[in-house]
Amino acid sequence: MIGRFRRLVPPGPIRRRSLPRLPFARASGAGPSAGDPSEVRPGNLVPESHVAAMFDDIAPVYDRLNTIMTLGLDGRWRRAAVTATAVASGSSVVDLACGTGKLAAALAEQVGPFGRVVGVDLAPAMVELARARYRDLVQLEFLVGNALHLPFADGEFDAATIAFGLRNLADFEAGFREMARVVRPGGWVVCLELSVPRPRWWGRTYHLLFRRLAPVVGGLFGRRGAYEYLPASLEGFPRPEHLALTMRRAGLVDVSYRRLALGAVALHRGRVPA
Ligand SMILES: C[S@@+](CC[C@H](N)C(=O)[O-])C[C@H]1O[C@@H](n2cnc3c(N)ncnc32)[C@H](O)[C@@H]1O
Repeated sequence: MIGRFRRLVPPGPIRRRSLPRLPFARASGAGPSAGDPSEVRPGNLVPESHVAAMFDDIAPVYDRLNTIMTLGLDGRWRRAAVTATAVASGSSVVDLACGTGKLAAALAEQVGPFGRVVGVDLAPAMVELARARYRDLVQLEFLVGNALHLPFADGEFDAATIAFGLRNLADFEAGFREMARVVRPGGWVVCLELSVPRPRWWGRTYHLLFRRLAPVVGGLFGRRGAYEYLPASLEGFPRPEHLALTMRRAGLVDVSYRRLALGAVALHRGRVPA
């Protein structure tokens, strides 16, 4: 299946202005998020080194741009993700692809000073920002690391989260498997991610608008290239129902999801079998 996608970003050094113009090849006739599971991408085709360099570059403007692009709704979505973990005071959580640490900090508030939250991100600049911003939360730490190869023991955490990070991973199912590995039996794995709204005509219109507007807004902050990646990374990304299947294939049970923001965002969760 992967052979049907062209590898469009050649590995090599990153220059700021040549940051990926990242054209996920579209599954034939499938549109922005393929309807047939066989046409859905199993992972991000952009090499991890490029992804890390791109997020390092946008780290200083990431939060501002995020607030603009989500119309300030991202805080509400993250709170829904915290609730989905079902963690309480004293619990432990790992937040993958933590970026500047907003979800990790919300989780840290939830588990309190006797809990533990670890944020992990591939981009060192994101991790530096997160560390500087939340150094007063004793229960919260940040590590540079790859969500697909976590430096944690099996069952070390009560829950695992990933927000707007999954679509960057080279293998979505492997991402869920790694999350399930580090969560204790009975704990929740939670994924908040962009999606393409229904019905199909609106999904296409939305995607077209997103594709046009995101680079323009990114360009205002001198980051046009990186913000071409954002809508492109949605192309061929599994629809919510297919993402739920991916979670089940990764070994999670009681998998469910809800659409937020008229379907532009999806919140999934699944439990590690007891
Ligand atoms: C769109 S940002 C989301 C940040 C944050 N979770 C949020 O909700 O704002 C995606 C993040 O995923 C990180 N990332 C991409 N690939 C990763 C990987 N393989 N392992 C860990 N982090 C990764 C990027 O560095 C970036 O900070």
